[in-house]
Amino acid sequence: MSIIRTENLGKVYKGGTTALNGLDLEVHPGEVFGFLGPNGAGKSTTIQLLLNFIRPTAGTAFLFDGPVTCTKSRQRLGYLPESVNLQTYYTGQRLLEFHAGLFGIEPGVRARRAMELLELVGLLEAAGKSVSQYSKGMLQRLGLAQALINDPELLILDEPTSNLDPVGRRDFREILLEHRARGKTVFICSHILSEVESVCDRVAILKRGVLNRVGTMEELSGAKGFKIVARDLPAAAIDALSTSAARVTLHGKNATITCGDEEVRDEVERVLRESAVVIEHVEAETQSLEEIFFGAIDRKAES
Ligand SMILES: Nc1ncnc2c1ncn2[C@@H]1O[C@H](COP(=O)(O)OP(=O)(O)O)[C@@H](O)[C@H]1O
Ligand SMILES: [Mg+2]
Repeated sequence: MSIIRTENLGKVYKGGTTALNGLDLEVHPGEVFGFLGPNGAGKSTTIQLLLNFIRPTAGTAFLFDGPVTCTKSRQRLGYLPESVNLQTYYTGQRLLEFHAGLFGIEPGVRARRAMELLELVGLLEAAGKSVSQYSKGMLQRLGLAQALINDPELLILDEPTSNLDPVGRRDFREILLEHRARGKTVFICSHILSEVESVCDRVAILKRGVLNRVGTMEELSGAKGFKIVARDLPAAAIDALSTSAARVTLHGKNATITCGDEEVRDEVERVLRESAVVIEHVEAETQSLEEIFFGAIDRKAES
């Protein structure tokens, strides 16, 4: 079973902009999935296709293994849009009660549900305040509460922390992890890399409408290879290594050997063992999500 699946999904807007091109994606139950990409990459377009707000010009999208046109799936998901657009004439509490009503939650339960969620997102004190007086950060918190009102199996968040301060971001992260701990799935679009890195089980990187990378943080960060540090290399070992695919940097008789993958690392270790060389240490060189991200979108990470 998959929670979200797309097959060759594409969108060309009227006017000719190709926002999404041949997207194949699968999101599994119980994972927090990060959908990353710079502005204009096609993240919000993907979400709108999943929600059936717009129609694809190619391919198909599925929610809970059914077509996105099936209205029942809407009952099972929660959505926090990029710019939160809530009815401002309500108080926070009334607004949530109203949305609880839309989901068919019993009148007697609505008030309690609203207050629980206001507490969860840190808005209990603003419960009786008009939504028109909420700050941007408060609106984003209220938007999250609204998206959680039906305790959704799938929570879709579009740039959810853009208006939040660091405390707000930490609160959001905790709420998402708690949601996952209860077996729910979260699909989160973001360009804030550090946020996603700390919360997502898997990430996909979108570049100009095309999926560039997808995998667990471990899979994506394993890409850089291995570094072996060895001491007292005899000339024969240096010769042998010079014909291998590894890159050898000598410091006197000591060497730092960079291996692109596990195969090269195994080969280097064999050569060194045959020459009875002391291997000081072997370490996996990992990339931060930032390096992966900038690598994927062809821009240098600024240090
Ligand atoms: N309604 C629309 N009509 C025409 N072009 C659009 C529309 N919405 C988005 N686009 C274009 O599609 C591309 C992807 O946009 P979007 O999905 O919003 O990206 P992201 O959410 O990753 O920033 C951009 O080039 C954007 O200008
Ligand atoms: Mg967007």
